[in-house]
Amino acid sequence: VDGDPVSGEAAFTGPTPLRGRLQVPGDKSISHRALIFAACARGTSRAVGLARGHDVAATRRAVESLGVRCTDEAGAVVVAGEGFAGLREPDDVIDCGNSGTSIRLLAGLLAARPLLAVLTGDESLRCRPMDRVVGPLRAMGSVVDGRDGGRYAPLAIRGASLVAVDHDLPVASAQVKSALVLAGLQAEGTTRVREPAPSRDHTERMLAALGAPVRASASGLEIDAGEPSPFDLEVPADPSSAAFFAVAAAVVAGSDVVLDNVALNPGRIAFVDVLRRMGADIEVRQQHVRLGEPVGEIAVRSGPLRGTEVDGDEIPSVLDEIPALAVAAAAAEGDTEFRDAAELRVKESDRIETTAAMLTALGVEVETRSDGFTVHGGTLRPGVVSSGGDHRIAMAAAVAAWAAEGTTRILDWDCVATSYPEFAEHAASLSGRRG
Ligand code: S3P
Repeated sequence: VDGDPVSGEAAFTGPTPLRGRLQVPGDKSISHRALIFAACARGTSRAVGLARGHDVAATRRAVESLGVRCTDEAGAVVVAGEGFAGLREPDDVIDCGNSGTSIRLLAGLLAARPLLAVLTGDESLRCRPMDRVVGPLRAMGSVVDGRDGGRYAPLAIRGASLVAVDHDLPVASAQVKSALVLAGLQAEGTTRVREPAPSRDHTERMLAALGAPVRASASGLEIDAGEPSPFDLEVPADPSSAAFFAVAAAVVAGSDVVLDNVALNPGRIAFVDVLRRMGADIEVRQQHVRLGEPVGEIAVRSGPLRGTEVDGDEIPSVLDEIPALAVAAAAAEGDTEFRDAAELRVKESDRIETTAAMLTALGVEVETRSDGFTVHGGTLRPGVVSSGGDHRIAMAAAVAAWAAEGTTRILDWDCVATSYPEFAEHAASLSGRRG
């Protein structure tokens, strides 16, 4: 039985070589931003190929609850924005589900609106730190409250006139940076945002391409008051989703896969560098640029891998791919160390613990530390794994299952729909098996 996208459990049997071409769904980060930027532009925007997972659906519902009309037209989502001033008070609490990007970007968007909005989410999201966005928004003049003094959602936001502030972020976070950019576009004066290491830069690339006053300089971002223009966008495929198939193709003997139309933003495809360091046969070919984002294909063939080290400034650019890379590490010869990655502990699950538990259940030796873990490569056996409700752990476990000989059961499977409801079907198309 292969994975069923709507059931609570999946089983995958290996070894399962993957062969062929695949376009994974639209990039989740770009999809969230497309909906939010379209909502604050004045005029009609169209986005084709938005991610269809629960996270992006939560952003769409949120934008609709702010009075912005979104309609489906021939595969496109059409958004009728009326500028920041067109956003209206929602008549109920906004439920962001599992989505950190939704809640944090919306907090920045709403920080300057003269309305009351309450943002909440599922149990996982309500345990994730919100003070990193609440503190800087308060410093700009917004009235934001939340549980435990503003550390956790639900967040209650009463927008106010904002003044520009220079922010020196203590952690590299694209979600926090993006919230402050959205607030900065509505503040008086020049807002500045500096981060300790570069995080993904979709917000600044897309907004600059849409004529909004957001500039990247050597010392960080500078934002003045202004609005993006409406746009037409074909959303490129999500490199974080592609990474699961890239790792699978690298580790399962006999695989040969090409991933089409992938967003090749350098802040998103550092997993390719890691796989290359491990000896993978992987090639990236840029083909075009859409709204400032490079797009192209990634071709991967199986081969022997060796352990590596992943740390320092590379970490923010591979953070979402670490569960998949950990599977590559398990299939590699020698040890792989992930360091400086304490942020993994505050993702959809504590990914240091959930990644280690997933690999341990499959016979791999793993040692965890406060800021990372070491994988002793060489073994991958079938077993029974729980995703812990984390979509990326579930998909990484499926990749491990294809590499191991025998059948692996994955419990709590349905969370894959957070980012990639089509995962099992796409896997079946590359493996020549039915989903
Ligand atoms: C995201 C930013 C990242 C990433 C998340 C999506 C975004 O989080 O882990 O899955 O779309 O801005 P950070 O805010 O920690 O960078």
